[in-house]
Amino acid sequence: MHRRHLLRIAGLAAATPLARPFLAGFPSGDGVKVDPATLPRAPLRLAPRLRGPALVLRAQERVVEIAPGVKARAWTPGDGPVGPTIEARKGEKLNIALENALPEPTILHWHGLRVPEAADGHPRLAIEPGSRYDYEIPVIDRAGTYWYHSHAHHRTGIQSYRGMSGFFLVRDEHDDALKLPSGVHELPMLIQDRRLANDGTLVYDPMMHENMEGFFGDAAFVNGIRLPMHEVETTTYRLRLANGCTSRILRLALSNGAPFLMVGTDGGLLPRAESLTSIDLGPGERVDVLADFAAVPVGQTVSLVSQAFENPAMGMMGMGMGGRGMGGGPGRMGAGGIPQGGALPLVEFRVARAVAPQPWRAPALLHPERFPVRQAVRTRTFRFESMRMQHTINGRDFDMARIDESVPFGDTEIWQFVNPSPFPHPIHVHENQFEVVERIGGRGRIMPWERGLKDTVLVMPGEQVNVRLTFDVYRGRFLMHCHNLIHEDMGMMLNFAVE
Ligand code: C2O
Ligand code: CU
Ligand code: CU
Repeated sequence: MHRRHLLRIAGLAAATPLARPFLAGFPSGDGVKVDPATLPRAPLRLAPRLRGPALVLRAQERVVEIAPGVKARAWTPGDGPVGPTIEARKGEKLNIALENALPEPTILHWHGLRVPEAADGHPRLAIEPGSRYDYEIPVIDRAGTYWYHSHAHHRTGIQSYRGMSGFFLVRDEHDDALKLPSGVHELPMLIQDRRLANDGTLVYDPMMHENMEGFFGDAAFVNGIRLPMHEVETTTYRLRLANGCTSRILRLALSNGAPFLMVGTDGGLLPRAESLTSIDLGPGERVDVLADFAAVPVGQTVSLVSQAFENPAMGMMGMGMGGRGMGGGPGRMGAGGIPQGGALPLVEFRVARAVAPQPWRAPALLHPERFPVRQAVRTRTFRFESMRMQHTINGRDFDMARIDESVPFGDTEIWQFVNPSPFPHPIHVHENQFEVVERIGGRGRIMPWERGLKDTVLVMPGEQVNVRLTFDVYRGRFLMHCHNLIHEDMGMMLNFAVE
C-alpha cells in the first residue's frame, strides 16, 4: 500500500470515535472504516430532469449518499451525486445560469452540442467562486444523448469525478416518431469509475505512473451511485449510456449474453438499428441502446457489465506501466484501482414484475439523414504522444492563449489522429459531429458503434483514425483534446479557431 494511504488511514483511525455516523469526504474525511467489498447494492437513482427555457445550475459541495450508509462530499450542479439531466427539444433556446459556489474556479461545457463560442465552456471562461456565468444555448442539434461536465483549467478531471457532470438529452420529431421506450423505460446512465478507499473517502490523487496511463477507480458508479441495482419489468428498456470515466474504456455487455439493439451514438440516431453483444466506449463517448428483459424470468437478475479485455498499454509496454506494479493488485481497495481492461460490474437489473412485453420493432430506416457528402479540401495530421511525463499533440502541450489551427469557416477537412504512444487516446472535437472515415493499423476498421455522427473517437496505440468534419455553424475559438481527463488536464489539448 502506498505510504500516503497508510498515513491517511492511520491518522483517521486515531481521530475517529467508533460510534460516529459515517461521513466520507474529499480528499480526506473523517469516518469509521468501511469495507467496500461488503456494501450492499443501492437502488439506482435517475438524476432529476430539468427543462428550459431558463435554468439555474448552482455548483456546490453537497454531502450525498453514494452507497448504502456511505456519504461523500460531491461537487455537483444539483442536489444529487451528479448533475441533473437537462432535457430540451431541437429548436428551443435555453438560458442556463451557472452559479459557482465551489471553493475554486469552474465552468461547464456542453459536450457534443454545437453552441456559440461564448457558451462552449472554454477554460479561459472559468468563473471565480461567488460569480455566475450566463449561457445562451440555441439547441440546433438533432435528438441525441449529449452530456455536460466541468472544463476548468487543469481541474476538469477532479471536478467531473466529484460530480460536475450530467446528461443533456435532446429530442426532436424523428426521435418521437420512433416511439422508443420512454418514461420509466428510459434510463440515462452516466458511468464513472471512482476509488472508494477503505477509510470511506473518494480518492482522486493520481500518482506518477497514473499521470501517464490514467487514473482508474476500484468500482463503477452510475449516476453517482456505487454499484447500483435497479428493478425492471419484463419488457424493453432504452439505455442511454455515457462513459464519464476519467481514463477507463468500457466494453459494455449484458451478463446473460443477450444483445443490445443499438439505435444511436454520440450525435444521435443511426440510420439503421444494429444488434451487438458488446460495445466499446472510450471516455466521452455515448451509445443509445435497447435492452430486452422480456425473456428473463421474474426473480432473476441480468447485469450490465464492462467485460475484461487486454490492456492495450500492456501489449505495447510489456510488464511496465500497465501492470500496476505499485499500489497493490487489481481491485485492491483504497490503493490501486482496477486496471484498464479489468472486468467491472456496472448495474444489476432485478427482473421484478411480469408485464405484457411491448416489443419495439425497428423500422428499416431509423433516421433519414446521413453525412453530408462533401469533398474535403484540406488534411491536418495530429500526433498524440505520451512520454517523459508529458502528453502532447504535435509536440506541444496546451496553451490557453495560443491558436494552434485556423480553420476556414464552412470548409470540409480530414483530420488524421495518429497514436504512436503506448496509451489509448479518445479524441474529442468541440463544436462538431464528425464522420469516422478510416482506421489504419490496430483494429484496422470502423467499429459498428462508430458509424453514426461522432464527437469523440477512440484511437488505440498504433492506430490512425481519419475523420471528416465541417465547421459551418459558428466562428470562434474551440478545443480539440484527448478525453482521458488526466491527459487533457496535463495539456493534451489545443485551440482551433474557425474564422
Ligand atoms: Cu467532454 Cu472538451 O470535453
Ligand atoms: Cu466537448
Ligand atoms: Cu490521451
